[in-house]
Amino acid sequence: MIIVMLGPPGAGKGTQAELLAERLNLMHLSTGDVLREAVAQGTPLGRLAEPYMARGELVPDDVMIGLIKERLGKPDAARGVILDGFPRTLPQAQALNQALAQIGQKVDRVFYLRVPVDELLVRISGRYTCPRCGATYQRRQPRPGAEERCDACGAVLEQRPDDRIEVARRRLDVYFEQTAPLIEFYRSQGILVEINGMQSIEDVLKDELAALPAR
Ligand code: AP5
Repeated sequence: MIIVMLGPPGAGKGTQAELLAERLNLMHLSTGDVLREAVAQGTPLGRLAEPYMARGELVPDDVMIGLIKERLGKPDAARGVILDGFPRTLPQAQALNQALAQIGQKVDRVFYLRVPVDELLVRISGRYTCPRCGATYQRRQPRPGAEERCDACGAVLEQRPDDRIEVARRRLDVYFEQTAPLIEFYRSQGILVEINGMQSIEDVLKDELAALPAR
């Protein structure tokens, strides 16, 4: 099964992709995580991607399409994949359809998480991640001057550099210009399911599980 998580920055794609992957035993493939890892390790991909990410813009399509084709060819993708952050442009979506067709697969379901912009900005600015175990938290009212620590492993939490408000606003503009057209692209194929992302994390998951295609 191939599932695409679609929605603006901060809508909850990563949160839901992780839960769905665990529940359905599918691979969770987050292009944002792959790129952040590459930046942290200073690989050629990371050096190329970093300035785009820092500005809140998209990494060029040819780079992202090459990356996804390579990942989809790996053995652990054979049991099915949840794509989180890809595709983000029409050329990426078309390339994905072609690449899947070549291996006899297709996108089975697209979950579009709908969340209003004012809530997205609150979620993005309240997001903290653990550099040690990768856990993500929502701290809406961090204590001024105090370090935020991971509940799971105790490490000091960090904020993503692209979660600064001015970069977050640019990411939202880029989403509406380049990614939002995918909503109609997938709706016209009859595989898009719109999910109310303003519910609790558990209720969003429940709605997604109820809207899975028959296996
Ligand atoms: P990426 O990492 O994909 O970022 P994004 O799409 O902007 O998404 P986010 O990670 O900000 O949000 P999310 O929807 O996953 O929400 P989350 O679950 O974390 O991409 C980063 C950059 O990489 C891009 O800007 C671009 O430069 C580059 N890139 C990546 N893919 C690319 C591609 N295909 N092409 C070109 N460039 C690419 O949740 C957000 C917060 O809200 C968390 O704190 C969470 O705990 C909380 N939360 C989640 N659900 C709920 C809920 N129901 N209620 C309350 N809080 C919630």
